[in-house]
Amino acid sequence: TPLTTSDGAAGLWQPYLYDKGNVHETKWNKETFDYLQSCLTSPDSVKMGIFLQSGYNLCTEPLPDPSFKDAVLGFRQLTKRELDMFPGYSFGWFNTALMIEGKTYLPWLMDWLRQREVKFYQRKIGSFKELADSGADVIINCSGVRSGDLQPDPELQPARGQIIKVDAPWIKHWISTHNFSSRGNSAYIIPGETCFTVGGVFQVGNWNLQNSSVDHKNIWEAACKLEPSLQHARIVEDWTGLRPARSKVRLERETIRSEPTSFEVIHNYGHGGFGLTIHRGCAEEAARLFGQILEQKGLLAHSKSRL
Ligand SMILES: Cc1cc2nc3c(=O)[nH]c(=O)nc-3n(C[C@H](O)[C@H](O)[C@H](O)COP(=O)(O)OP(=O)(O)OC[C@H]3O[C@@H](n4cnc5c(N)ncnc54)[C@H](O)[C@@H]3O)c2cc1C
Ligand SMILES: *[C@@H]1O[C@H](CO)[C@@H](O)[C@H](O)[C@H]1NC(C)=O
Ligand SMILES: *[C@@H]1O[C@H](CO)[C@@H](O)[C@H](O)[C@H]1NC(C)=O
Ligand SMILES: *[C@@H]1O[C@H](CO)[C@@H](O)[C@H](O)[C@H]1NC(C)=O
Repeated sequence: TPLTTSDGAAGLWQPYLYDKGNVHETKWNKETFDYLQSCLTSPDSVKMGIFLQSGYNLCTEPLPDPSFKDAVLGFRQLTKRELDMFPGYSFGWFNTALMIEGKTYLPWLMDWLRQREVKFYQRKIGSFKELADSGADVIINCSGVRSGDLQPDPELQPARGQIIKVDAPWIKHWISTHNFSSRGNSAYIIPGETCFTVGGVFQVGNWNLQNSSVDHKNIWEAACKLEPSLQHARIVEDWTGLRPARSKVRLERETIRSEPTSFEVIHNYGHGGFGLTIHRGCAEEAARLFGQILEQKGLLAHSKSRL
């Protein structure tokens, strides 16, 4: 933090509408929601960047219930009176979700870990062998969209997003639209703790990290159509990030042989546009795999005594 994709993300807890058979993801998403909800009973939730927020999912056609309907609170279909507020949309849902803002949560998490004597080093890793050679027993690969030299994964692609941060404290609900004729480039508006996020584009294969004035114009026009009062909002800044898009999250163990030895890698990447939404469930699974490796390698007692 602060120069990660997770820091810039809007921070709404909401997965894609359908898990497409990746039922593990539905489970990890729900586990994350439950974890974050349990944090709300603590005053520290504000320091974590976590708070409840309700909003609308708007669709241009009727759709089956989304995979997350049992994870969120108070999920229901929109009434005609509600839909009348949103010309162009004939169907949708209302629910209460959570906000988890990376720019607050990541520094909190790092402090929490530092207090537990976790050490941080900032450096570019050229290969996993380099880490293994320097004595790492287990490597957890959370490198987001950057495959670099770390053995490319053809399934992993950038899905470029650009957002506009504005000042619009009068808007209290998020709105996420789902327009299947616009190929994922659907408008959304998400109130945050201090800043309000307006999106968005979803450009698969586009590695450009520059803000585009064409995207800015399109995003702004679509958002103002959705929420006309935004015309009075002060624009603060643009931000561009690359979602690590993949057909499904890669969360598994791999033993990498590098004669004369071998080392263990736990992959945890490919969280697309819902990395904050799924992070805790994935982290718990990665921790379980980590424990399994320590047990198999007989490292458990050893590492305990070292701590
Ligand atoms: C515009 C936009 C809006 C979004 N909104 C939301 C939202 O509302 N809710 C939600 O849940 N998700 C949202 N997302 C998605 C979310 O941001 C991502 O899923 C998440 O940030 C991915 O986290 P990550 O840790 O895998 O990757 P990152 O946050 O990108 O972290 C990867 C880290 O690995 C480091 N790294 C990579 N390669 C190397 C190397 N070789 N050596 C050393 N370090 C390396 C990078 O420097 C970086 O620090 C949004 C994304 C975008 C772009
Ligand atoms: C949905 O997308 C299509 C194609 O881009 C566009 O013509 C239409 O106006 C959009 N609908 C809404 C409600 O924005
Ligand atoms: C590590 O993760 C990146 C994606 O962040 C992926 O491209 C790469 O293949 C992974 N490394 C290995 C050794 O599998
Ligand atoms: C995008 O615009 C913001 C200000 O609006 C700026 O801080 C940021 O550096 C820009 N990004 C790039 C890559 O130019």
